[in-house]
Amino acid sequence: MSKTISYAKPALSGSVKVPGDKSISHRAVMFGALAQGTTTIEGFLMGDDCLSTISCFRSLGIDIRIEGEQVTVSSGGRKAWKEPEAVLDTGNSGTTTRLMLGLLAGTGFHSVMAGDESIARRPMKRIVEPLRLMGADIRGRANGHFTPLAVQGTQLKAIDYTMPVASAQVKSAVLLAGLSAEGTTTIHEPVASRDHTEIMLKHFGADISRHEDVISLTGGQELSAAHVQVPGDISSAAFLMGAVLVAEGSDVELQNVGINPTRTGILDVFESMGADIRLAKRNSPGELSADVHIRSAALTATEIGGALIPRLIDEIPLIALVATQAVGTTIIRDAEELRVKETDRIQAVVTELKKLGADIEATEDGMVIHGPTELRGAACMSYGDHRLGMMAAVASLITEGPVTIDDPGCISISYPSFFDHLDKLVQ
Ligand code: S3P
Repeated sequence: MSKTISYAKPALSGSVKVPGDKSISHRAVMFGALAQGTTTIEGFLMGDDCLSTISCFRSLGIDIRIEGEQVTVSSGGRKAWKEPEAVLDTGNSGTTTRLMLGLLAGTGFHSVMAGDESIARRPMKRIVEPLRLMGADIRGRANGHFTPLAVQGTQLKAIDYTMPVASAQVKSAVLLAGLSAEGTTTIHEPVASRDHTEIMLKHFGADISRHEDVISLTGGQELSAAHVQVPGDISSAAFLMGAVLVAEGSDVELQNVGINPTRTGILDVFESMGADIRLAKRNSPGELSADVHIRSAALTATEIGGALIPRLIDEIPLIALVATQAVGTTIIRDAEELRVKETDRIQAVVTELKKLGADIEATEDGMVIHGPTELRGAACMSYGDHRLGMMAAVASLITEGPVTIDDPGCISISYPSFFDHLDKLVQ
């Protein structure tokens, strides 16, 4: 089913509370399942990816209840997990697949994980390799490169590992495996990636330390159940921020957005392009959050690369769209990781923005966008990728003529209320 969107070049105004952070919601369920006792999670993201995590842990025998945006996880700890009777379906979720691999490797049972067509194309060797160094027994297509992945749980041993790619999913899988391993696991992270796992491990009582780029965690620790308050997802908020920036005369407030510094590259980039953004910080325990007030402004081009990339990796499709409205040439480099996301996001973004009239070229590791250009309506493909679908929807605010999105349902992977929120701000 497709959706055709046509807005009469509106100005956005008002205030919305964006849904919970996807990365933090996944982890809260996983850590609740590891801990003995009852964990309560408030502000949980009821997106398809996080629901995949819940369903996988239910298959391991964990009691998980959902009431509104509150999730309660009751567990007897890792030792109480049961061997699943069927294949664990991780849907479209890379985070579920990769972090669970780290957890399942250290159990005493057999399990198999598989997801959708996109998951079947995503590289798993980056997780399987360090886990095998820890003694994990994992089989999969192409020698463990792709799902389905079969895991025979075993006693793991700690490793000293230097991360070849800046990936929070790899770091987290190794840390979660390290929790049940013999000895102290040490990870060298040359370029910092999101640190939600480290923050939440501490919140659940684990002893984990970081000195410069080295993270250490001693195995054999038990976690204690906790209460988790999930802030709004800055990666979802980013699409509304982008909408404000491209739709002239807009002025919007986004409530309770997570502003963990490993995730706020998007704020730095938008500010460098000329955006007027003000943060009213909230008094939140654990993860930082703020109300974000943003107004449209004249935009100038920017250059993005290096250590900034992991701090905004999921926002690059949107940045590319915003750059079409900025004066000058925007260059995005060092972002080759985009080629192995839900789809090849360099290829997909360039193809779809070209259809809309953008002056954009792909490079090996990024893209080059010349602006400003007037955009026109077109039939856009999402490739089943939620962030591509939202990019096309935001573009429709400023196109001459309607934009059709082929599979708008995929947006519910991370932002089920996206169209309601956009409509609310447009009126
Ligand atoms: C995530 C980490 C990032 C990000 C993904 C979620 C996480 O992936 O792109 O959407 O929750 O740890 P990588 O760590 O593979 O870069």
